[in-house]
Amino acid sequence: MRHTVVFTAHYPSIARDILAPVADLIEHPTEHQRTEDDVITLLSEADAAITLLSDPLTRRVLASNPNLRMVANYAVGYNNVDVAAARELGIVVTNTPGVLTEATADLTMALILAVLRRVLEGADEVRRTGRCIWEPLHLLGVSLQGKRLGIVGMGRIGSAVAARARAFGMEVAGVRRGEPLDELLATSDVVSLHAPLTAETTHLIDAAALAKMKRGAFLINTARGKLVDEAALCDALERGRLRGAGLDVYEDEPRVSPRLLALPNVVALPHIGSATEETRSAMARIAATDVARFLGGEAPLHAIG
Ligand code: DGY
Repeated sequence: MRHTVVFTAHYPSIARDILAPVADLIEHPTEHQRTEDDVITLLSEADAAITLLSDPLTRRVLASNPNLRMVANYAVGYNNVDVAAARELGIVVTNTPGVLTEATADLTMALILAVLRRVLEGADEVRRTGRCIWEPLHLLGVSLQGKRLGIVGMGRIGSAVAARARAFGMEVAGVRRGEPLDELLATSDVVSLHAPLTAETTHLIDAAALAKMKRGAFLINTARGKLVDEAALCDALERGRLRGAGLDVYEDEPRVSPRLLALPNVVALPHIGSATEETRSAMARIAATDVARFLGGEAPLHAIG
């Protein structure tokens, strides 16, 4: 009997190449603001699915289709999945770890460089004025050399950022899950977030944490938006308590706070940490291979929990 695999978005073609020979595929267009009911409808015919990090895979969604046996979440983060409910319902959940480490670390460095060296402000100015002006005091940023980078979450991605930052002459400190943050916050010129989003890490960087950061420090977030209390971040940036922020993720995606966008010292990217051709294809290969293994009776290689 052929199984049905639902794609809740357009994924790189390798996913189809791997699964079309072994399953019937239903492919849906990519959408970012689905409700539980939307996802219930999409998954109604699925034996397995490849899902987006913005698809809410709640208990209600997972329980809605008794035939659903596996979900391959097309991301390393899986805060959108009720993993405990999946376990109880006997639904296997996988993610795509490892293959996006380097791309996300590269983008983190891009944000650090962009914010400290005011890259976007400079690029905007040239485009707007059609002129290139060299002035001794124009668009002065901050050197990376000798600055201290504090990494919150020294896992795979945090460690890859550390290696890159050292090559730029930064001094690196890091904390692992559960370790206290206070000293790191108080001593870092740049704080970069690489922790998963869980109940414990939601608003890890709130007003109190921001108040502990060095005056004039920078915050970088390429992990999950909800790690940061965005209203408190806006306050800190507007008051000049922080000198800038580089963000790839937001508290209420796909919405981005207009307060953040009004600040010239914020570089805001559209959650593109893993967005290289190579990485997205590798993620698709991992997700689809695990679905194919599961449907073929083998254990998936990247099961969560
Ligand atoms: C992830 O995989 O969790 C990233 O946020 C998107 O690639």
